[in-house]
Parts: sequence; structure tokens; C-alpha cells
Amino acid sequence: MDLRLDGKAALVTGATRGIGRATARALAQAGADVIGCYHKDEEAAEAVLRALRETGGKHRMVRADVTRPEDVERLMDACREAGPVDVLVNNVGIDASAPLADLPEEDWQHVIETNLTSAYRVTRAVLPLLSADSSVVTVGSSAAARGVPGRAHYGAAKAGIVGLTRALSKELGPKGVRVNAVAPGIVDTGTPGSGVPAELRARMARMSALGRLVTAEEVAQSVLFLAGDASRYVTGITLNVDGGL
Ligand SMILES: NC(=O)c1ccc[n+]([C@@H]2O[C@H](COP(=O)([O-])OP(=O)(O)OC[C@H]3O[C@@H](n4cnc5c(N)ncnc54)[C@H](OP(=O)(O)O)[C@@H]3O)[C@@H](O)[C@H]2O)c1
Repeated sequence: MDLRLDGKAALVTGATRGIGRATARALAQAGADVIGCYHKDEEAAEAVLRALRETGGKHRMVRADVTRPEDVERLMDACREAGPVDVLVNNVGIDASAPLADLPEEDWQHVIETNLTSAYRVTRAVLPLLSADSSVVTVGSSAAARGVPGRAHYGAAKAGIVGLTRALSKELGPKGVRVNAVAPGIVDTGTPGSGVPAELRARMARMSALGRLVTAEEVAQSVLFLAGDASRYVTGITLNVDGGL
């Protein structure tokens, strides 16, 4: 199976932590030059850049808030300098939890903006830079198909990713651009107390056919598959990376 990305350029949003960092690494190890973006954490960005450079290749990290159109334009300037983009990974997303009765419109908007609209914005901006036979992969979530109480906004945004992916696969397919998504279950960060509550993590691990949570590296391997030639006839899908929920 051809998972190499030698000579290709990849843009990964949210590349300083979790799935984004693991994906940036996996793509760089496969030979791609990576442009990563992040929101605030300069120190983490420098550490990721050092790690990417150990794999060889030309890599860059750009500070850009994908909820801000002007930041995305700046990110595109960096991409333009580097040349055509062969792989876009829309990874940025924020987790959020609130029962509907306590979910103000402002919070709803923020989650939709960060998890769904940012993918539309970055994909649209990068469109003129995409090479022939390029691949767009967006990180969704198993929450879209399963539904999780207290995560109406998150689930709705991630379900939007599924629709965005299918529509764009049809629209961009004739240009040779493939558009897919991955839908991970809860990621095992290895850090107790971080992110999703322990009770929900344990329940999701029990519910999965494989009896455990997924790692960021395992999600990254699925993104790598969708990014390159190994999946050249695959488009419009949302690949569940959830251990069989
Ligand atoms: N973690 C899970 O269990 C899980 C499960 C299913 C799906 N997902 C999805 O997987 C994706 C990654 O999740 P994760 O948990 O790995 O992420 P994470 O650890 O929270 O990292 C988020 C990354 O995105 C960056 N970021 C956040 N907001 C941004 C913004 N507005 N503009 C630019 N960059 C921004 C962060 O940069 P800074 O550090 O500089 O802020 C960081 O690099 C998300 O779409 C998430 O919904 C996650």
C-alpha cells in the first residue's frame, strides 16, 4: 500500500496537540512538507516544529485562528509561498458540553463556528492552491452519528462535517480533489483528568468492540491513508475510527 507523500505539501490545522500533532508527524514521516497552524500556544508550536524537522523536509508553523477570516488569509499567504497544497487536514475543533436548557446561543454559535464553519472557511480559502489529485480530510467525531447528551452543538457541528464532506466530494471530484472525513471516538490522551470526563471515557471504552479508546496516532494513520494514493478511489466517506462503537 502506497502511504508515501514524498514531494507533497500538507496543511494541518490545529497541529500543536492531540490528533493534529500526531497527524502532522505522520504526514511528515511519510515524506510530506507540513504547514501547521495553531491558535495560541507558541511553545507547543516550536516543540512540534522541532519534532517535524527531525523527519527531514521543509515544515512551518503559522499562528492563525481559523475562526478569523483575516488569520486564514495570512495562513494562505504562507501556503502560497510554499507552493501548491496536496493535502488539507481540517483538524481544528473544540469540545463542549452543556444541556440544551443551559446552552446559550452564543456558545452554540462558537462551537458551530469553530468545528464546522472553520472547515468551510479553510477549505474554500485553500481551493485555488489545491493541486490536481489533492485530498481534503476533515476530523469529525463519532458524536455526530451516535448522539451524546449535553453535546447538541458539538454533535450538530460534526454532523455538518459529514454533509460538507459529501457535498464537496461531488463538487470537487471532477477536478480530481477527493474529500473525506474521519470520525474518531474519544481519544486516549494518556493524561488522566484532561478533557472528557473520566466516567464518559470509561463508558465509551466499554462500549467499543475493541474495549478501549483510540489513540491520536491511530486516528493519524487513518488520516494518512485518506491523504495519499492508497485511497485514490475513495471520496465522500466518513471513516469511523472508533473501535467499533
Ligand atoms: N479528543 C477527542 O477525544 C476527540 C474525539 C473525536 C473527535 N475529536 C476531534 O478531533 C479534532 C482534534 O481534537 P483534539 O482533542 O486532538 O484537539 P486538542 O488537543 O484540543 O488540540 C486542538 C488544536 O487545535 C488548535 N486550535 C484550537 N482552536 C483553534 C483555532 N480557533 N484556530 C486555530 N487553531 C486552533 C490548538 O492550538 P492551541 O494549542 O494553540 O490552542 C491545538 O493545536 C477536533 O476536531 C475534535 O473535535 C477529538
